[in-house]
Amino acid sequence: MARLQNKVAIVTGAGRIGNIGLAVCEAFLREGAAGVVATDILLDDAAAIAAKMADTHGEGRFQLLQLDVTSEADWQRVVEETVASFGHLDVLVNNAGISIHGGVESTSLEDLRKVMAVNHDGVFLGTKVCAPLLAEAVNRHPGGGSIINTASMASYMPNANNIGYHVSKAAERMLTICSAVEFGPKKIRVNSVHPGTTMTPLIRQGLEDYVRGGLWSTTEEAETALAGMTPLNMNSQPEDTAHAFVYLASDESRFVTGASIYHDGGIGLRY
Ligand SMILES: NC(=O)c1ccc[n+]([C@@H]2O[C@H](COP(=O)([O-])OP(=O)(O)OC[C@H]3O[C@@H](n4cnc5c(N)ncnc54)[C@H](O)[C@@H]3O)[C@@H](O)[C@H]2O)c1
Repeated sequence: MARLQNKVAIVTGAGRIGNIGLAVCEAFLREGAAGVVATDILLDDAAAIAAKMADTHGEGRFQLLQLDVTSEADWQRVVEETVASFGHLDVLVNNAGISIHGGVESTSLEDLRKVMAVNHDGVFLGTKVCAPLLAEAVNRHPGGGSIINTASMASYMPNANNIGYHVSKAAERMLTICSAVEFGPKKIRVNSVHPGTTMTPLIRQGLEDYVRGGLWSTTEEAETALAGMTPLNMNSQPEDTAHAFVYLASDESRFVTGASIYHDGGIGLRY
């Protein structure tokens, strides 16, 4: 049986070709999800994504909607549209994230708040708005509802050059475990996936920032150096990272809540 049969999911930050959110949507569809609502603040790639999804997975199980995760009104609208299209909600993937490089001295309060707004407040709002519907998932699935937060190796590794991102991802981890305790009695499981370097548009932008900052001379050199920081000497691809989300979304993980899945090639073992 398909691992996500009859499940309906909302995934944030999934509107960009080549990113983790879209890879998660594809993996969910491959595993038989009844409905996947990809959302993003930017819909520049919408036409190409719709065509790709229809081609690979057929019509009717995939939608792409505009959602700014920092807007509670946007969340309410997306949840209403999800229920109107697919009838219920079983899985929420809080995946949208941004990064603005800098240390304490070079980061403005405004930039720090921008990063916290997306990486922390967006997860808080998604959890808050979707929880009532996710609490009904236990009537359909033994694993109940599932919230999966895309945190990062940044949740547990310091980086003085990227303070906002690391602080926000550490806060996201604490939000995950507090929510796991709060929503356990309602049979909603809340877990986090912590990707290491995964080759997406966000990381490519980060590598360019490092090169501009003089840390490495080319992005290729940066990519190789980051791989070399892991015991496996490799970086991840979005499709690899997506496997961890399938497990947490499925009933195979029905006894798993508050867990951190380190999908980081072992880089975290050094911290
Ligand atoms: N790629 C990596 O190496 C890596 C490593 C660790 C963690 N992560 C995390 O994985 C997640 C996905 O990252 P990615 O690498 O696929 O990056 P990405 O930039 O390709 O994807 C992030 C998406 O979030 C969207 N977004 C930004 N602000 C938003 C907002 N206010 N509301 C809704 N959507 C918004 C962007 O438009 C983008 O499509 C992020 O949370 C990121 O922090 C990535």
